[in-house]
Order: sequence, then structure tokens, then C-alpha cells
Amino acid sequence: MDRRRFLGSLAAAAGGLMLSPRLLRADSAIDAFARSRAAHPYLAGWQSIDGEAFGPSKVALEGRLPEGLAGTLYRNGPALFERGGQRYSHWFDGDGLVHAWKITPRGVEHRARMVSTSKYQREDKAGRFVLPAAGSRVEAAVAVRNNDDVNVANTAVTVIDGRLFALWEAGSAYELHPDTLVTLGPVTWAQGMESAPFSAHPLREVDGSLWNFGSLDVLGGSGLLIWRIGADGQLLKHQLLPTPAPGYLHAFAMTQKHLLFVLTPYRMGDSGPFFERLKFAPDLPCRIAVVPKDALDAPRWFEADFGMAYHFGDAFERDGVIELRAVLHEDSAEAVSPMAAAMRGEHEPIVEGEGARLSSLCIDLAAGHARWVDQGLRGLEFPQFDPRSAGDRGAMLYAPLTVGARDVPYANAVAAIDAERGTRTVHHYGARVLAEEHVFVPRPGSDRANAGWLLGTVLDSDRDRTGLAVLDAERIENGPLATVWLQRSFPLGFHGHFNPG
Ligand SMILES: [Fe+2]
Repeated sequence: MDRRRFLGSLAAAAGGLMLSPRLLRADSAIDAFARSRAAHPYLAGWQSIDGEAFGPSKVALEGRLPEGLAGTLYRNGPALFERGGQRYSHWFDGDGLVHAWKITPRGVEHRARMVSTSKYQREDKAGRFVLPAAGSRVEAAVAVRNNDDVNVANTAVTVIDGRLFALWEAGSAYELHPDTLVTLGPVTWAQGMESAPFSAHPLREVDGSLWNFGSLDVLGGSGLLIWRIGADGQLLKHQLLPTPAPGYLHAFAMTQKHLLFVLTPYRMGDSGPFFERLKFAPDLPCRIAVVPKDALDAPRWFEADFGMAYHFGDAFERDGVIELRAVLHEDSAEAVSPMAAAMRGEHEPIVEGEGARLSSLCIDLAAGHARWVDQGLRGLEFPQFDPRSAGDRGAMLYAPLTVGARDVPYANAVAAIDAERGTRTVHHYGARVLAEEHVFVPRPGSDRANAGWLLGTVLDSDRDRTGLAVLDAERIENGPLATVWLQRSFPLGFHGHFNPG
């Protein structure tokens, strides 16, 4: 794998930082954030974490946990934004904090712990940020040897055969102890594949095996690495998929037969951290690889108009057309640095009717073309669905959403969206509650699609506390069956995984 360009640019970024006037303001960035948080309590979602391990603590329960719901919701997100007088400016840069919400018939227990990556350990020792970051300028950053030197393991979690992994976009998965959350170390799936990127959005087959990818484009190389991991956690296969042009992708989708990779075109600027140099190119088409699961070296490539999605919902195939649901971001600046104002501690004015929109990418296999079809819904992100949904029609999507009057520039509700019928049901948490991803948990013993619960974390900014809500997925409008509240707030996270049992 050729990482020279990526590493070279990180080094260049580090070198160029010495004289940056931003450095002179570094101390005040922390002060400014603290002042603004006092005035705008919702900024707790972007606070820097103040410890390494939290809990285990029993959590107060409101309502009643549904019978049959037992297991652990793991979640991950960037949490350490400040060290040695510096504050990161980009949300994606914070070191990962993994939460475990353990649900038993006796109640709910919470714990959380920083992922002890090599980056975290080095910077903990140094007492300051010393490694280049993906989106923030870091003062006097040192040179890096490979992408795992800057791995923050902060994006998602998954469990394979009882083993827990913290995931990032451009480096190794980090294995954690599933009970204590203590970091065990980075994972190499096969000899010679050290530090190969293993993205944060693996997809699971019914048999428990996983597909994943790693993008070499963003590391200065070219192509996509496709991973196939067995239900036992062993590598079954990996395949390099050459890409026709540089494309960014954060996640992917699949039907019963195909893997679907949507590459967003970009051009790279010359200097600065990765997300400063990344310029999406709306004048260029998306390139889409449709890869048969049984012939990874035989992709079909399609083109569609430009579109930028971090996250995809379900995909299905009907009458020779693949339909894939995506959350498209139209604002390029927001897309490369989401919630940038909140990271700076600035209150962002609320603009109604804005936000990412739900769109379907329709890929006509016979005609050989692909096009985006708007689904008429805005202001959502982090879509989830029941993996038991039928493979020949759209699944119900579950997603945080912005609705009604709101005081904070973030999702305040959760919705069940039937895009094919154009209907949705919503639970509105409140004007000053921030709603995160809601993970769908199938009801044990039922094969019926959408029978189950949504487990969603929320930040109640009025009371400065983080909670976990449990909703009946088929009766979202009734609100949570049960909610548990911690005694404090934590920074918002990105993605979770529920491990039953
Ligand atoms: Fe993601």
C-alpha cells in the first residue's frame, strides 16, 4: 500500500503549523468554548472529556424495560478535544470514548472508557497533542510512520464472536475487553496487512459474517480494500478493488447479491489537514461500484450525478433495478466539517428547512445508468433499519430528525420513515434535547421485520445529562417505554452496536 502522499501531506501540515497565528489563540479557544457552553448548554455535546474511565454505575430508570430486551449497547464517539492548552477545531479528531450500556432484567449499568490507542498513549505522556489530526491543525506535530500512528478509534464499534472492536475510518480496528472496555490493541487480520484501513461501517450477513472496506484513496494510494470476516472473527477473504478516479466514501451498502460502493469525487488542496484539503467536486460524477458478493474481482461501474453521503440505509433489488437509500449533504463546508461552529463554541443560528436529505440512488442494471431520486425528507442522519427486512422492497428507516420548534442546531426527534409510502411517525424529545443514532434491536424469537426496539442515546441540555431511551420500533409516537439517565453529560458520539445476551 502506498501511503507516501498521505504521510507526506501530514508531515507538510505539521511543518506548516509552526507559524500559524491560530496557535497564538490556542489557549483562548478552550476559554471561549467554556464561556459559550455556559450560555448555550447544548454545547455539552462537544465538551472535552475529563477522565479516562467512568463507572460502572447503576442508572436510574424511568418507565419499564420491555421483557426480552437484554444485552449491551456499545457506542463510540470523539470525546477528548482538549490537551495542553489546545482545542481541536474538527469534530472527527477527538480521541474515541466507548460506552457500554448493559441492560439486564435487574436494570441498566453504564460504563465508559477512552480507547487507549498508541496516539492516546503518546499524547497522554506528552501532556499535549503531538500527532497530526485529520481536520485540526496541531501545533508542532511530529512526523508519523503510518496511519495507525494517528488512529483515534472514535467512530463506531462492532462485536464479532464476542470480541469488541472500536473502529475508525483509515486504520486498524482496536480490540477492547467487552466487559471492562480496557484496550487490548490494534488488530491485524492477516500477515502483511498491518495498519490496513478497516472502515467504521461493516455490514453483517444473517450468518454473522461481515463485509467491510478500507479506502486507500484517502491514504494517498488508490483503490478499495474489500474485507470478508467470518462469524468466528477470522479473515475469509480480502480483495483490492481498483477505483477509476479518486473517490471518498465513509460507508457502503449491500443487497442480497451485491456490495455497493458510492464514491464521491473530490480534489485535494495542497496544504493543511486532510479535511481542509478535501474539496468535493460537484462538477464531477459519483462513481458507483456494484460488486457481486461471489465475484469480488468483477465489479460493474456506474456513474450518477454528484452526491455526498456519509451514511446509507438499506438497499434492495427489484425488477433489475437496485435502489439504495442515502443521506445526502448539499452543503460542502458542513459536509467536510460538521458542527464546526459548535466545536468553536459558537452558537449557530437555527435555519428551518435545512439539513441533509433522504435520497435514493436507483441503479438500472440492464440500462446501465444510475440516478438520484429525492425522497422529500430533510434534516435526518444516522439511518438504521431492521436487517430482517425483505430484500425486494424498501425497509423502514429509523433516524434522528429535526422537527418543529427547536433551540439547538441538532436532531431533536427520532423517526420511523417509510419512504416508499411517503409516511413517517415521530417522537419529539424536546426543544433542547439532542438525539443521537437509534440502534434497531430485533425482538428475540420474532422473524417479523420491524418487531423490536430502538435504543437511542440523548443529551438533555437543560439538565446537563446523558440518557438512553428505549422505544417500541412499531410505536415510536408513544415515546420511550423506558429511559435511563446518567448523573452527567458526555460528548455526543457517532455509532453503536447492540450485542444481545
Ligand atoms: Fe459513520
